[in-house]
Amino acid sequence: MAVAKLKAPRGTFDVLSEDALKRRELHRRAWAVLGRGGYRPFETPVFEDTELFKRGVGDSTDIVRKEMFTFEDRGGRSLTLRPEGTAPVCRAYVEHGMHKLPQPVKLWYWGPFFRHERAQAGRYRQFSQVGIEALGSDDPSLDAESVLLLAEVLEAAGVRGATLKLSSLGTRESRESYLGKLRRYLHEHEGDLSEDVRARVEENPLRAFDADHVGTRAVMAAAPRLLDSLSPEDAEHFAEVCALLDDACLGYVVDPTLVRGLDYYTRTVFEFESDKLGAQSGVGGGGRYDGLVAELGGPPTPGVGWAAGVERILLASETKFPAAPRPIYVAIDEMGTRRQAFGLVTALREAGVRSELEQAGRSLKGQLRHAARIAARGVFIVGDGIEWTSLDTGEQRPVGGVQEAVRIAVGVVT
Ligand code: HAM
Repeated sequence: MAVAKLKAPRGTFDVLSEDALKRRELHRRAWAVLGRGGYRPFETPVFEDTELFKRGVGDSTDIVRKEMFTFEDRGGRSLTLRPEGTAPVCRAYVEHGMHKLPQPVKLWYWGPFFRHERAQAGRYRQFSQVGIEALGSDDPSLDAESVLLLAEVLEAAGVRGATLKLSSLGTRESRESYLGKLRRYLHEHEGDLSEDVRARVEENPLRAFDADHVGTRAVMAAAPRLLDSLSPEDAEHFAEVCALLDDACLGYVVDPTLVRGLDYYTRTVFEFESDKLGAQSGVGGGGRYDGLVAELGGPPTPGVGWAAGVERILLASETKFPAAPRPIYVAIDEMGTRRQAFGLVTALREAGVRSELEQAGRSLKGQLRHAARIAARGVFIVGDGIEWTSLDTGEQRPVGGVQEAVRIAVGVVT
C-alpha cells in the first residue's frame, strides 16, 4: 500500500532557497533603514499568555474572536501563538522596566506571526512581519518618522506606487462622545446593515467602516466621521503629523474611514496599500497606541509603530533580488581522488571562496555540465595535477598546486 504523503499545514509554506535569499536580503535592507532611524533589534517569544492579546489587541476584534491559535500547555495555562507584535513588545517594556531607559525606546523586530485566517494568495496562517515600536513619547515627529521609515523600507524593497492612507482616531476620551453619535446613527439605519455589523454596534461600531457588505457600505458613506469630531489637541497633533510628512514630500491620502483591525489605536493610524496584492491590499500599517502600556499594567506610556508583511512586501516588490552568489567548482577526473578534491575545497573555503566539490558520482562530463548549471565561475579539475577552467572567459591552464589554485580563485571572486 502506498504511504500517504504529508503536506505543510493549510496556510503555511516552506521557504525555498531562492525565496530564503530574498528574505535575507530584505532583512538586511530593512535593518539598514531602521538602524539609521535609531531603532534597535528586539525579539519576543513566539507564544504568550492568551490574556495578553485579549487585553492588548481587544476582545471584540476579529483577531481575538476568531483568528488566534490558542492552546493549553501541560500545566493547564492558556497560551496563544502571537498574532501580532505590539502587545508583546509593550509587555516586555513593562516587564523589563524599560520606562527607566532614556525615552523614547525604539525597537524593531522580524519574525513569524500566526492568524487562523482563510488562506489565499498573500494571506497565510503563519506569516512574517517586520515591524517597529517607539515607546515613551507622544511627539508628532515620532509618528511622522515612523511613517517615513515604513515608506523607506518599502522603497528599499522595491515596492513602488503604494498608496499611503492616513487618519486620526483621537484619544480614547474624545472618541467616546463620537462613538455615541455613531451608534445612534447605526441604530437609525439598522435595517440596512449586515448582521455582523449589527451585532457589534454596541461593542465596536467603528468596524462598520471596514465592512464589505453593500448595504452597510452605503450607510457608512454618509455616517458621521471621527476625523470631524477630534478634540482640539488631537486635531493639532494630527495637523502636525501631516505637516511633517508634507515637509518630507511624502504623499498621502487622508482617509477618515481608515479602521485598523486592532483595538489599541489612538490618534494617528496609517496603512500602505498596493494594487499588486489583489484582495489583500495592505502591505503594512500601524499607528499610535497611547493607552496600551498602561492597560498592560505599566506606567502611562505613549507609543507608536507599524508592521509590514514580509511575504506581501516580496509579492509587491518589483526588484530583482540578487541570485545566489556563484561558486567555484572542484571536479575529479579518473586520475584524481576524493581526498585531493576535498583538500582543495577546504583550502578554498578557508580563504573565503565559496566552493563545491563533486559529491554525486558523476562522470567528468556530467560534472562539467553540473558546474555550468550551478553557474560556477570556474572549475578546477583534480587528477594527475590540477587544471583551471574559467567558465566566464573559457581560459584554461595547468595549476602548480593548492596554493596557486587558491590565489587564482581569490582573484576571480574579488
Ligand atoms: P496588522 O495590520 O494587523 O498590524 O498587520 C500588519 C501587516 O502584516 C499587514 O499589513 C500585512 O502586510 C501583514 N499581515 C497581517 N496578517 C497577515 C496574514 N494573515 N498573512 C500575511 N500577511 C499578513 C499589526 O499587526 C500591528 N501590530 C502593527 C502595529 C505595530 N501597530 C503599531 N505597531
